[in-house]
Amino acid sequence: MSRDGQRRNLYGRRQGRPLRAGRRALLEARLPALQIALPDPPGRLPAEALFDPLPDRLFLEVGFGGGEHLAWQMARHPDAGFVAAEYFITGVASLLDQLPAEPPPRLKLYIGDARDLMECLPDALFDKIFILFPDPWPKRRHHKRRLIQTPTVDLLVRLLKDGGELRFASDDPGYLAWALQRLTAHPALRWQVRGPADWRYRPDDWPATRYEQKAVAAGRRPAFLRFRRKPRQSVPTDP
Ligand SMILES: C[S@@+](CC[C@H](N)C(=O)[O-])C[C@H]1O[C@@H](n2cnc3c(N)ncnc32)[C@H](O)[C@@H]1O
Repeated sequence: MSRDGQRRNLYGRRQGRPLRAGRRALLEARLPALQIALPDPPGRLPAEALFDPLPDRLFLEVGFGGGEHLAWQMARHPDAGFVAAEYFITGVASLLDQLPAEPPPRLKLYIGDARDLMECLPDALFDKIFILFPDPWPKRRHHKRRLIQTPTVDLLVRLLKDGGELRFASDDPGYLAWALQRLTAHPALRWQVRGPADWRYRPDDWPATRYEQKAVAAGRRPAFLRFRRKPRQSVPTDP
């Protein structure tokens, strides 16, 4: 359900093979302290409802899959807070398996459609947003299922701080063209690119995900895009 009451269908898998008992126990023990509940009735969730105190830097990962990238970024940025959304519960269990025994107070998880969460969050919250290898939905009749749509780009832009960074990766040429078209069309985003090396190679502070490794093993060539959010006062149409 979207936050304005319209039905939003989830098309991907919610679960893989049945979870092993250990993973199920992990979810039961750790998830309650980490999980974000959306406001009911729908409305905005204050940043302090996520973290108190609020870390100076906040990162968001949308569709974190098995959680390798998220766990890596958390280990490298011990001062930052992390918000992450995923509806594949097997992936959530895999993330928890990689974290230290005590659930870190600087991580919050939303189990569901990331767009429902993002719609509730306040403006200018995140320093970085990661969308890595979102499902490409290659068939034309499925393109409307793609995560990158103009309203989602508006949402991402609203959530980024001035100067914040959006990272996007895909190994699907059709989705890459689709996403580039929509992301570069936004007046508040500037693609950080001077030449092909800037999208052909992953920067050092961007670890490979499991999905990327599979794509490369299958002979596909991923692209890595970085966008900078322009300062609000420099964009005439920015609210
Ligand atoms: C192809 S996988 C990539 C996973 C991971 N980012 C990686 O690179 O390994 C896409 C993931 O995004 C999740 N996903 C897709 N749409 C989503 C949405 N609207 N909200 C939350 N998660 C979503 C899927 O469940 C899936 O785990």
